[in-house]
Amino acid sequence: MSMQISTTLSDRTVDDARLAEILADPGFGTNFTDHMFRVEWTPDEGWHGARVEPYGPLTLDPATAVLHYAQEIFEGMKAYRHEDGSVWLFRPEENAARMVRSSHRLALPVLEVGDFIEAVESLVTVDQRWVPTNADQQGGEKSLYLRPFMFASEAFLGVRPAQHVTFMVIASPAGSYFKGGIKPISLWLSEEYTRAGRGGMGAAKTGGNYASSLLPQREAIEQGCDQVVFLDEEATYVEELGGMNMYFVFKDGRIVTPALGTILEGITRGSIIELAGKMGHQVEERRFSIDEWREGVASGDIVEIFACGTAAVVTPVGELRWPGGSAPAPASTDLTFRIRQALVDIQFGRADDTFGWMHRVA
Ligand code: PLP
Ligand code: COI
Repeated sequence: MSMQISTTLSDRTVDDARLAEILADPGFGTNFTDHMFRVEWTPDEGWHGARVEPYGPLTLDPATAVLHYAQEIFEGMKAYRHEDGSVWLFRPEENAARMVRSSHRLALPVLEVGDFIEAVESLVTVDQRWVPTNADQQGGEKSLYLRPFMFASEAFLGVRPAQHVTFMVIASPAGSYFKGGIKPISLWLSEEYTRAGRGGMGAAKTGGNYASSLLPQREAIEQGCDQVVFLDEEATYVEELGGMNMYFVFKDGRIVTPALGTILEGITRGSIIELAGKMGHQVEERRFSIDEWREGVASGDIVEIFACGTAAVVTPVGELRWPGGSAPAPASTDLTFRIRQALVDIQFGRADDTFGWMHRVA
């Protein structure tokens, strides 16, 4: 299917002076562009009414199913401006494919990969002046964060898959996800709470997983840590952070990332498997126990740990704390920063796109 997308331009766009102010210091997730994309689904009509329209509030019936049963999925991706002014997406087909997988788990309709990409492209094209340049900051990493999402928009309190579903894309200029820029983040080991279990929704990008992370994340902050790290349901194996995957670097050059199953299959994670492989590292996807973490850092076998995701890019991990104990920050951040640089250089067009990851929009 190829969507017919109609466009209604906003007559109340943010003026150039205010836009320049926002793009100078975008923060994360606070300012939104002038437009949004929307398309509706019903069993009879399929996806219909695709449109780019002025950004604005939704009117929802209080019985709208997503408000009650959280039948919702989302994606996170970015548009990058290259030095020549062109605008690019990073592996958008991977986000589209992951949304298809999430939609299966949440009993939501499938939005075809091509339609997903067209939807994102149509919004980025209309709002391209919102994609920050990095000219003011050599090697800067500002981008336009894109948030496609799909939710049960039927007003009905019965517990069954919704018969009216809405897919939207909104966009928000983004700087660093962590306040204060890139420095090692400290992690709190949640011993009480897990994020996902066998047969659960851990591999789907769905709001409920984030809702369940908020209490342990608050606990992490109260303990003076930046993020929470989740273990599996046996409290034995490392899974991931609330919004990032994890990597462990050994002194012999091997790097290890927790195997898929109950974690989100991060596109950054997958890209690093390829990048690090090309840089000559052996990459292992396997179960990784919390004991291996503690012992590896203590013995010096583990020399670096980092977290990765679209919003956080690649971020070094420092100290790990748990009730009554801690493991110190690993010795180095060298490979972490080299992988980070290799990735952002491709995303911002400063290095050859040898993997064919970039997708031009404007
Ligand atoms: N894990 C979780 C729970 C996430 O929310 C994210 C962010 O999207 C990731 C991992 C990293 O995924 P990606 O690299 O596709 O952004
Ligand atoms: C992302 O990295 O895109 C995420 O979705 C993480 C978080 C902002 C939810």
